[in-house]
Amino acid sequence: MAEINVALIGHQFMGKAHSNAYRQLERFFPGRYRFRMKVLCGKACSTELEATARQFGWEEFDCEWERVMARKDIDVVDISTPGYLHHPMALAAAAAGKHIICEKPLANTLAESKEMLRAVEKAGVKHYVNYNYRRVPAVAYAKRLIEEGRVGDVYHYHGSYLQDWIIDPSFPLVWRLEKKHAGSGALGDIAAHASDLAQYLNADITEVVGQMTTFIKERPLPGDGSGAWGAKGKSGKGKVTVDDDSNFLAQFKNGSIGVFESSRFAGGRRNFNNFQIYGSKGSLAWNMERMNELEVYDRTEASVNQGFKTIMVTEGDHPYVGAWWPPGHIIGYEHTFVHALWDFLSCLEEDRMPEPSFREGVKVQAVLDAVERSAKSKKWVKVRK
Ligand SMILES: NC(=O)c1ccc[n+]([C@@H]2O[C@H](COP(=O)([O-])OP(=O)(O)OC[C@H]3O[C@@H](n4cnc5c(N)ncnc54)[C@H](O)[C@@H]3O)[C@@H](O)[C@H]2O)c1
Repeated sequence: MAEINVALIGHQFMGKAHSNAYRQLERFFPGRYRFRMKVLCGKACSTELEATARQFGWEEFDCEWERVMARKDIDVVDISTPGYLHHPMALAAAAAGKHIICEKPLANTLAESKEMLRAVEKAGVKHYVNYNYRRVPAVAYAKRLIEEGRVGDVYHYHGSYLQDWIIDPSFPLVWRLEKKHAGSGALGDIAAHASDLAQYLNADITEVVGQMTTFIKERPLPGDGSGAWGAKGKSGKGKVTVDDDSNFLAQFKNGSIGVFESSRFAGGRRNFNNFQIYGSKGSLAWNMERMNELEVYDRTEASVNQGFKTIMVTEGDHPYVGAWWPPGHIIGYEHTFVHALWDFLSCLEEDRMPEPSFREGVKVQAVLDAVERSAKSKKWVKVRK
């Protein structure tokens, strides 16, 4: 069995989601290749980093990412840090000849993402950007139905991604609320997922008109080192420099039209990542808060029988789920990360490029860039190639 040595950079939210997936993978998806969890890297060599490394079974931990990149024994670098670090880390990893897994959005700007794509292509390494919602079985099944022609010609695509975790004005100014660290707010964080799903399930977006709003313009400084300053115990208020809510209309290459909304102020919507696709032969709808279900409407049925039906996507021959539990025994968020790593490992084994690669990551970045330009000009703008 070939061992692929991995270094994971980032040990908190995504660090744990990825660590859990590295642990679970070979138990449910055994293959000829396996990941070896070599080193977990964080911002500081804290007891918390060490504890997380132990808890998930990493062999070592470190707090100097440059040192990790330079190691000869690392095959794959997994970048799960705030957006502003994706660009320098990916360039360093590519220069060192490592295969790269990078969290979304690929970068903080379109220019950065293009440079990252050039670097990985020059280095000849495998590259993957973690738009993990593609790996929800119900979403992968929707893709299969679309490819089988069950939706027909698409007329409308609706993509919403709604959350409510910063609706309280006393929520602190963490890195996600600062442009220089996150690139943008709801747009890059969650509309990025919606844009990737749209371009995956439907077609490339060619033109947009958008609007971005910041409802709460100042917030308390976090004082725990998670904001801009990295300084503990700092009090007072700081400026929010990203959007709280971003919405746009889109024109797709295949002639269909899109309506997108993203907000972190949608009270009661905890992780409402939703799409609706309406075509000449049928319609599909999905929502992450009921992630095992896909709503399917078939216009080719006799009209007396027409109506949306809800398919529980847990059958053995639905994508991915056969590796888990019997039908009806639902799966969750963490499984999408296992599926993503399984596909990545299969690509290493079969010498294929994973999807979405940095190339598709750049395409999402181009949509985000267009929405920002449109929000400023208040006009329709073309998505840059
Ligand atoms: N795919 C998804 O569903 C999903 C969900 C959440 C976040 N994300 C993405 O994952 C990335 C990380 O987000 P998160 O929620 O895990 O953030 P987080 O704040 O929970 O964790 C950030 C991690 O980065 C590390 N870090 C920061 N600076 C560092 C440095 N200089 N050197 C080494 N490590 C450093 C921190 O130690 C921490 O472990 C972001 O790009 C985010 O958009 C993706």
